[in-house]
Amino acid sequence: QFDEVIERIKQADVVVLGSPVYWHSLCASVRTLMERCYMNPKVDRLGGRLFLVFQGAGPERWMLDAGVYSVERFAGMYGMTYEGMAHNAAEAKKLANALDSVRE
Ligand SMILES: Cc1cc2nc3c(=O)[nH]c(=O)nc-3n(C[C@H](O)[C@H](O)[C@H](O)COP(=O)(O)O)c2cc1C
Repeated sequence: QFDEVIERIKQADVVVLGSPVYWHSLCASVRTLMERCYMNPKVDRLGGRLFLVFQGAGPERWMLDAGVYSVERFAGMYGMTYEGMAHNAAEAKKLANALDSVRE
């Protein structure tokens, strides 16, 4: 279903990418999506605004930073505007406010 997922992402104005912190990093399914986009002639530009929800049981800052780094690079590579990451409820609320401003 890779092509289907990519088409949906291309059509979307806003994409919320969700990942648990698994083994100090983004989870395997999210990494697989990014890996399959890389050097793929079918995936040139995805566009839209990208938010990341990245939840762990007790992640250290470097783990979150590493995930954000990868997702930010991914966004840049595929013409998406990276809007930020939430790893707890307070941060999610802030991101939700940014999403509301998208709707206005
Ligand atoms: C295989 C596995 C690896 C995990 N590794 C980490 C980790 O490195 N750091 C962390 O903060 N949480 C880790 N967790 C916890 C998950 O991030 C957490 O279970 C997930 O965000 C879902 O939250 P919940 O269990 O409260 O529903 C791990 C969980 C599993 C199952």
